[in-house]
Amino acid sequence: MDFEHLVRTRRSVRGYKKQPVPRTLIEEILAVAVAAPSSMNTQPWHVHVLTGEPLERVRRRNTEVMSAGGKVNRDIVTHGEYQGVHRHRQVEIAKQLFAAMGIAREDKAMRQDWVMRGFRQFDAPVSMVLTYDRELDPGAVVHFDLGALSYGICLAAWDRGLGTVINGQGIMRSEIVREEADIPANEVIMTCIAMGYPDDDFSANRVKAHRETVAQIARFVGFAE
Ligand SMILES: Cc1cc2nc3c(=O)[nH]c(=O)nc-3n(C[C@H](O)[C@H](O)[C@H](O)COP(=O)(O)O)c2cc1C
Repeated sequence: MDFEHLVRTRRSVRGYKKQPVPRTLIEEILAVAVAAPSSMNTQPWHVHVLTGEPLERVRRRNTEVMSAGGKVNRDIVTHGEYQGVHRHRQVEIAKQLFAAMGIAREDKAMRQDWVMRGFRQFDAPVSMVLTYDRELDPGAVVHFDLGALSYGICLAAWDRGLGTVINGQGIMRSEIVREEADIPANEVIMTCIAMGYPDDDFSANRVKAHRETVAQIARFVGFAE
């Protein structure tokens, strides 16, 4: 796919076909994604690719704990509630997704069902758990590096007809993921990426998230005009 078309058409996918993803295809995607830049070429990432029964166990346990009122337990420090413009954008995408899914504002049960889908990583056939070497903590730069890798994975997947959604929800209970995927203690679980063939009948998959304009996010210094 032409690069600009690839970037402009990609969107997060939250509804997947059951169809398994061949391991060779995932390896191909990762081989492209590791071309991402990293600070001083440290390439501090590890990718644990889950499917089948181990992934089902993660989903099951995540859902059990979270629906029993369990608290978020992530390896990385996360910001609390968003405020101001960030909160506004967060609400906007939620509204778009709920509208596409026909979930009414007051329909608490369906909203909760959507949250649970998130904890199940949208029932995607594959979940990639991204980690980095603990010795690099505290890790603003290493987080940046993993962000670059993540976007590379999403684009390389989209280019091959596969959908993804980077999601924090799937690793909300990092200790469960660590245990089921047998992730070593010297790695920090950063995020996960759900992946699979998009279900085109799933209406939330058609949602295109809004972006600010260049004029809103950039300023130019030293230019003639
Ligand atoms: C670090 C990160 C965490 C995310 N976590 C979630 C999540 O838990 N659940 C979800 O539905 N989407 C999640 N997303 C996807 C964003 O909502 C999505 O990228 C954003 O709304 C822009 O939409 P687009 O990817 O379709 O362009 C996450 C994205 C990033 C980069």
